Amino acid sequence: MIKSAFLATLLGVALSKEMAQDKVKAAALYKTGIIHSRIMTNKHATFDRQRAAGAYASAQYPELGYTECVDGLAVAISGDANNTFRCNNVDLYHFLSHEALGSNGGEGSSSWGWTSPSGREFLAIGQSDGAAFAEITSEGKLSYLGRLPQYSVPSIWREIRGYKNYMVIGSEAEGHNIQIFDMAKLLDVDPASPVTFSNDADLTGLFKGLPIGRTHNVVVNEETNWVYAVGAAPRNSSCAAGLIFIDLSDPAHPTSPGCDPQDGYVHDAQCLVYNGPDTAYVGHEICYGYNEDTLTIYDVTNKPNSTVVSRTSYQGAAYTHQGWVLDTKWQQFLLLDDEYDEYDRVDPAADGYHVTYIWDISSLASPKQTGLFKSSHHSVDHNQYVWGNRTYQSNYGSGLAVLDISSIPSDPTGAGVEEVAWFDVYPEDDATPEGGVIDFVGSWSSYAGFSSGFVFVNTIERGGFVVKLKE
Ligand SMILES: *[C@@H]1O[C@H](CO)[C@@H](O)[C@H](O)[C@H]1NC(C)=O
Ligand SMILES: *[C@@H]1O[C@H](CO)[C@@H](O)[C@H](O)[C@H]1NC(C)=O
Ligand SMILES: *[C@@H]1O[C@H](CO)[C@@H](O)[C@H](O)[C@H]1NC(C)=O
Ligand SMILES: *[C@@H]1O[C@H](CO)[C@@H](O)[C@H](O)[C@H]1NC(C)=O
Repeated sequence: MIKSAFLATLLGVALSKEMAQDKVKAAALYKTGIIHSRIMTNKHATFDRQRAAGAYASAQYPELGYTECVDGLAVAISGDANNTFRCNNVDLYHFLSHEALGSNGGEGSSSWGWTSPSGREFLAIGQSDGAAFAEITSEGKLSYLGRLPQYSVPSIWREIRGYKNYMVIGSEAEGHNIQIFDMAKLLDVDPASPVTFSNDADLTGLFKGLPIGRTHNVVVNEETNWVYAVGAAPRNSSCAAGLIFIDLSDPAHPTSPGCDPQDGYVHDAQCLVYNGPDTAYVGHEICYGYNEDTLTIYDVTNKPNSTVVSRTSYQGAAYTHQGWVLDTKWQQFLLLDDEYDEYDRVDPAADGYHVTYIWDISSLASPKQTGLFKSSHHSVDHNQYVWGNRTYQSNYGSGLAVLDISSIPSDPTGAGVEEVAWFDVYPEDDATPEGGVIDFVGSWSSYAGFSSGFVFVNTIERGGFVVKLKE
């Protein structure tokens, strides 16, 4: 026992791949926004190409009903390769296109769920022209209830997080602001008459304190009533597109005491009341920032005078995108995804098979990258959220992957991490030599927080899938 713990420690040290930030590269390429604007240009090119090719025309995507995953395939329409989904241990329950979910133009993005006090399960589904609302019925069907249109102009970048019975909705569209919508408004909607809610009459609150009204993402800490706008352009504003603090204790009147620009642009973050092995921080509010070239950890307890606890890069850093702690109640490990390591062909993702980086954050000042999980799917990894002992990943063209991460605390090298379920929402790239493309297609996000076990997967082109793990 002692011997194996000792060996594991040695191995962990040997495999640690955290690195100091490359200051020269950071100043020249990241802080200037050059890398970020290259990524945005590449994404726009893909989205424009897909739009021109008709991939967002919803009429071609019929409603799909329950389809069991048998021998690695969910054949929703027999003989139709575009409606045959590669899968493992996940059955399809329902699919509706963006148009069937009320959108005029589609282009899906983020999504989040809300469970009503009586246990009904509702979704807010990001689309370029607003947020669609649906209930997941007990049979796993999407029942469309209506929508909240975008505040200013459409944009594919729409990020949604739940805060109590509200949804907090931000967008990269200028002048959009952050909408705060009360999901309880859906409780009495008759699905036969979906409701288009109004930005004038139906918002609980609207946060108008962003520099130009746009934000890349919104981060919620329900425990402290704080929301963080991250990546709120422009980078040369006084907040530097860092963490913008928003007090949501009165959702009708969100206010901001300021921001933390110290590490510049924050692409995504998770902010939590800290509990874990680093005793000096127990009870502090900590933000784990995914900051393009570093994992940056902030102590935001004393707003606006927050501090940067550490800023750490790693071998393979191309675009530090997003991540999630393993256990919000004991913050010792986290998972990090890098959105550009496959695209830029950087080791360990140089072969295009994406990588989930495992970090030991036992010391917030000195996080260690102890190992990784190497996927067997050839695609770009995007967003992941941990529910229980599993992380639910939306990996663009290869769709939803569910990893069992319960081995990480005893083996942080990642050797025991296993993909236990998979559902490929984007069959269009299956015939490529590696069975998938390195491109910004397919799935953007998923939500797996419902106690029914139904998982919602939002896709850029098609619409929304309801799936469920067999076990
Ligand atoms: C499947 O989709 C691709 C890409 O949209 C298209 O080129 C192809 O014709 C479709 N195949 C079928 C059988 O409909
Ligand atoms: C920020 O940069 C933009 C161009 O990139 C410029 O138009 C604007 O004036 C700058 N704003 C500030 C506050 O420096
Ligand atoms: C934050 O720091 C400034 C400058 O040191 C100080 O004046 C202010 O009182 C501090 N605010 C809080 C809430 O600690
Ligand atoms: C996760 O797995 C561990 C070890 O198998 C188990 O003790 C724990 O209860 C699980 N936690 C959850 C939330 O399922």
